[in-house]
Amino acid sequence: MKHLIDSTDLSVQEIDELMDLALDIIEHKDKYSEACKGKKLATLFYEPSTRTRLSFEAAMMELGGNVLGFSSADDSSVSKGESVADTVRVVGCYADVIAMRHPKEGAPMRASMVSPVPIINAGDGGHNHPTQTLTDLLTIRRERGAMKGFTIGLCGDLKFGRTVHSLIKALSRYEDIHYVLIAPNELRLPAYLIKEVFEDQGIPYEEVLTLEEAIPKLDLLYMTRVQRERFFNEADYVRLKDTYILDKKKLKSAKPDLSILHPLPRVNEISPEVDEDPRACYFRQAMNGKYVRMALILKLLGVTI
Ligand code: NCD
Repeated sequence: MKHLIDSTDLSVQEIDELMDLALDIIEHKDKYSEACKGKKLATLFYEPSTRTRLSFEAAMMELGGNVLGFSSADDSSVSKGESVADTVRVVGCYADVIAMRHPKEGAPMRASMVSPVPIINAGDGGHNHPTQTLTDLLTIRRERGAMKGFTIGLCGDLKFGRTVHSLIKALSRYEDIHYVLIAPNELRLPAYLIKEVFEDQGIPYEEVLTLEEAIPKLDLLYMTRVQRERFFNEADYVRLKDTYILDKKKLKSAKPDLSILHPLPRVNEISPEVDEDPRACYFRQAMNGKYVRMALILKLLGVTI
């Protein structure tokens, strides 16, 4: 049995196969409409979510399966003090696959050690978010056609943003990609990731402080929200939250075929006036999330069509 805990749990070949399957699902939706008949997905969300939980549930429904679960720890026996391990042992008796989001780094990994069914990490603290990475990779492939030969700017909260952590780990295994890290000093990418992802693998990267200096050279811009819930004090959040705001004016110096991605939810970091620009891919990206999750559920349940 296989779990998905970290974005590097899948080899590049496995990721490419998942992308191919997601593209086939997009082309031939009807073919898959009963693929998971009689199967159940449990969503155990100990932290807020809109896209991830609902796209997992929509994915299972579109495969003809059923869903159960909770969307807040307060709604479950967690509020009585039950451990993640016990909850998963029990839910594993009711469901065939479990998607779990948890504020503590490593909780889905712990769950995978005792679970009788596959565990999918739907985000653990500031650590990893592998299904968002699959969503991002499918979006890059659909928008740009190939997984190489581009410069990507990652902008915003690179310290706490788990989507960025997951994405760069997965992307670093593809060749000929250039990285520009755009963050204020307080929200720089953690040193362990700079070492593991770039330095140890000999991959060049740049760090800059402003969006203006980065934007002209980018093919892809991955914007992120400042992660308020991971700050130790509100004053720091308030000071940093509007460091970067992408608007029409800043886009004047961008390439005509730039792709703007954002895992969402957005707060202020992309002005709504950008939404109508054809370079804004973030709502298409959210749609891709459902299709990669359909592909992932099929793979983990060993369903072939
Ligand atoms: C992200 C997350 O939960 O890490 N949201 C998502 O799953 N699309 C990004 C965020 O919350 O900023």
